[in-house]
Amino acid sequence: MCGIVAYLGQKKAQPILIEGLKRLEYRGYDSAGIALLKGDAFIINKTAGRISTLDEILPAEPPVTGLGIGHTRWATHGAPNTTNAHPHIDYTSKITVVHNGIIENYSTLKKWLIEKGVVFSTETDTEVIANLIGYFYSSGDGSEGQNRFEWSVQQALNELYGTYGLAIICADYPNMLIGAKKGSPLILGVGENEYVIASDASAIVEHTTQAIYLADNEMVTITADGFHTMTIDNVAVSKDLKNIEFSLEQIELAGFDHYMLKEITEQPTALATCLGGRVDVKSARVVLGGIQSHLRELTRAKRVILTACGTAWHAALVGEFLFEQLARIPSEVEYASEFRYRNPIINDGTIVIAISQSGETADTLAAIELAKERGAIVLGIVNVVGSTIARTTNAGIYLRVGPEIGVASTKAFTGQVAVLAMLAIELGRRRHLASDYAADLLAKLVEIPEKIKEILSQSAYIKEIAQANIDKENWLFLGRGLNYPVALEGALKLKEISYIHAEGLPAAEMKHGPIALITERMPGVFIATKSTQYEKIIGNIEEVRARGGKTIIVATEGDEQIKPYADHLISIPDVVDCLQPMVTVIPLQLLAYHAAVLRGHDVDKPRNLAKSVTVE
Ligand code: G6P
Repeated sequence: MCGIVAYLGQKKAQPILIEGLKRLEYRGYDSAGIALLKGDAFIINKTAGRISTLDEILPAEPPVTGLGIGHTRWATHGAPNTTNAHPHIDYTSKITVVHNGIIENYSTLKKWLIEKGVVFSTETDTEVIANLIGYFYSSGDGSEGQNRFEWSVQQALNELYGTYGLAIICADYPNMLIGAKKGSPLILGVGENEYVIASDASAIVEHTTQAIYLADNEMVTITADGFHTMTIDNVAVSKDLKNIEFSLEQIELAGFDHYMLKEITEQPTALATCLGGRVDVKSARVVLGGIQSHLRELTRAKRVILTACGTAWHAALVGEFLFEQLARIPSEVEYASEFRYRNPIINDGTIVIAISQSGETADTLAAIELAKERGAIVLGIVNVVGSTIARTTNAGIYLRVGPEIGVASTKAFTGQVAVLAMLAIELGRRRHLASDYAADLLAKLVEIPEKIKEILSQSAYIKEIAQANIDKENWLFLGRGLNYPVALEGALKLKEISYIHAEGLPAAEMKHGPIALITERMPGVFIATKSTQYEKIIGNIEEVRARGGKTIIVATEGDEQIKPYADHLISIPDVVDCLQPMVTVIPLQLLAYHAAVLRGHDVDKPRNLAKSVTVE
């Protein structure tokens, strides 16, 4: 992962780079750095730690130069210390690089360069890129008719296997910035006499809403007079300017203490936007613009494979249930990281649905490539507009829940489930569901945002529950049916941000092993709402209580029967079984949020994690 930003323009680059890095910090935050080019001299500052630490070591008065590159790192090769922090400078001190991605053949290239006498000073794969460009630059052979900097970048890129989003500057070209992309995202913001390269639009939108999305194996050379785009083999390509579709307000904290809380709270409006204009209850129809051209194949699908990572994988598990239940299409869920290394059987009529908030997750992208190679139609359910997955899939549905910045995913999960529900209901109606039944489900679906509001109003009470259990180091999350993936998601949220060990399980599986763990020091969080499996889960709660376990129960409003079983009871509005995950997950998000805050953790930037995992 990592985030990169670069600026060429008439303003001072330093504050623009720092501001951009702060917006990209969710992509990685173990070390950071910037390089400015002033005249023919690089000014490089880098440090282990966060952007705020970098900010502290920078000169208070920014150097007068409008050219620079910056990086926030999530370490893959080499410890997250100052030496390994980007930018990396080459052995000739002419080339400076920031990089997001992984160079797979870096050790071969490193060996080759060392044999040529090149000296390395870091453990990173990125230093190989800098040195390789430097090597070609100093040789300069074959660069006739082309500027030498651009030429040497192309020579080097053609030697690399792996992924990169790159921004590069050269000491001999004080007005030139080069960007290149393969596998990692890279966007060029085009302003009035200024240009910003960044890993995503959040670092650009403050300066301009016009952008160019580079494709893989493309690069851009920018000077004060303009820019030109080409392939890394030097074939000119023309790119259209696109409008960035979100505003600065959407990516600011707006008075909340954390992005995670802001995003949890935003769910009613985010879901209303996700459903808005798509669901027509009267006609029992759902119109999803991005898949119209593939509706026929989707309706006739013989099998659906849902693939994703992390939270999106939990949403996929809900999707599997919805497709089977409502559309009666055989469905299965695969971790993208596993799917891609198997030899998956894709028959005629297999549809692969890839789910991703960021649209950049490397494993999910690789799974998509494989599915396409095998002839599947691949559908993307993605939040970030214009992201790589959105552009790689045959058709897609955007979540429309707005930018998600907190590393722990919240509103993207409910958005993913809402999209899957819309799709399953629409395909179900086209296949066999009675229109009246579909209309009834759709009417209930559009009521979900209001129901979420009711749960959000219990935040202070849920905080008390977190407080009462804050000293417990191991938690179990248990649910059945559609609430089993929600149990997994609740456990993941708690792990990610509070660093408390938690496991999610189908409640009935507990007796096959995990029940051995139950003591009064291990809270069991049960999702025991009114559903077809209600009586069964009551039995599972009894089993825990009989062994002295403490229970936190999420139950349906007005359920008196369950009260004696709960040490802590969270009541939520009644919702039809198949739409419940969008509401049952809300108290679990709040529980994890409050537990993390009470433990004093950095909720939006949990240790060792990054929001967008663009490495395998
Ligand atoms: C990372 C994030 C998770 C996220 C997963 C998949 O691990 O920390 O929150 O669920 O990637 O990300 P995606 O953007 O593909 O949904």
